[in-house]
Amino acid sequence: MGFPAQRLRRLRTNESIRGLVRENHLSAGNFVLPLFAVPGSKVRREIAALPGNYQLSIDCLVEEAVEARALGIPAILLFGVPQARDELGSGSYAEDGIVQEAVRAVKHAVPGILVITDVCACEYMTNGHCGIMKDGYLDNDLSLDLMSKIALSHAEAGSDMVAPAAMLDGQIQAIRKTLDAHGFHNLPIMAYSAKFASSLYDPFFKEGTQSVVSFGDKRTHQMDFFNSDEAMREIALDIEEGADIVMVKPALFYLDIVYRAKQEFQMPLAVYDVSGEYAMIDAAARMGRLDRDAIMLEALSCMKRAGADFIITYFAKRAAELLRSHEQLASSHVEDKAPEPRLATVR
Ligand code: PBG
Ligand code: ZN
Repeated sequence: MGFPAQRLRRLRTNESIRGLVRENHLSAGNFVLPLFAVPGSKVRREIAALPGNYQLSIDCLVEEAVEARALGIPAILLFGVPQARDELGSGSYAEDGIVQEAVRAVKHAVPGILVITDVCACEYMTNGHCGIMKDGYLDNDLSLDLMSKIALSHAEAGSDMVAPAAMLDGQIQAIRKTLDAHGFHNLPIMAYSAKFASSLYDPFFKEGTQSVVSFGDKRTHQMDFFNSDEAMREIALDIEEGADIVMVKPALFYLDIVYRAKQEFQMPLAVYDVSGEYAMIDAAARMGRLDRDAIMLEALSCMKRAGADFIITYFAKRAAELLRSHEQLASSHVEDKAPEPRLATVR
């Protein structure tokens, strides 16, 4: 039985029916908004490559978190841009470090918002690397201690979830152990499990955190973008080590990895729609080549379809706003309008 008995277009006739049979959904509740904390007060410096996103002093960051919450965004992911960097990345685990202070302020002022903290040293190192460098190589086991210290300092400041980002072997195990030893056995870990060595992070380093590496690159720890089996091994190990949520990063060029990860593991799965993805869409929209809002919602929807449970994205606020007005429109149609045209007569 095929055509003409079967006509797939029947279920595409209008938005009401398309909505009924839609297989995946996107809402503000699916988003995590990344925020950048800087020292000072009343600082709200737009990040040139990420228009609509700012380096924020803690007072302004709190306001941003309030707005995000009001839009229905459940969580923020915090990054810090410290006053000073050093060879040991010591600002990354300081009790009065920029992220630790930001966590305290947000948890105090915006109860109910989930505060996730990025656990990595690159923003705090003079050389911009993710951990301790030895003879030009990122020393894995020395850096594990550093990651554990960072995660513990975030936990003590009140972080709701830590997100280890350095792609070190054994980092989830090391952090889980440290957290448990200090009574934080209920604090979840979101692992940047399959994080690829991507040029899509450039806007983040160059302008978001100003932490470009002074030599070398990150290809000895971040993944080779030719590989997919290896991403599954990374995820499997993180799960074994105690990850509660696994992540694929970046998102758009890596949706095959996202799909595979969901199929193979059935774990809570995050994707990180990174700075370069935002910058590409923004640039194309500015040139008048693509419709910003349309392409944004399409990109985010396709991340959900591929298997992501939620999306870390610089688009979070705009997308939440749009989705809210779509929903209002849809419900007003249902209340105010006559029934949709009788399907039988639609040609
Ligand atoms: C690690 C971290 C990075 C990003 C988020 N967390 C960079 C990296 O380690 O390579 C990049 C995010 C983006 O590009 O939006 N601190
Ligand atoms: Zn890093």
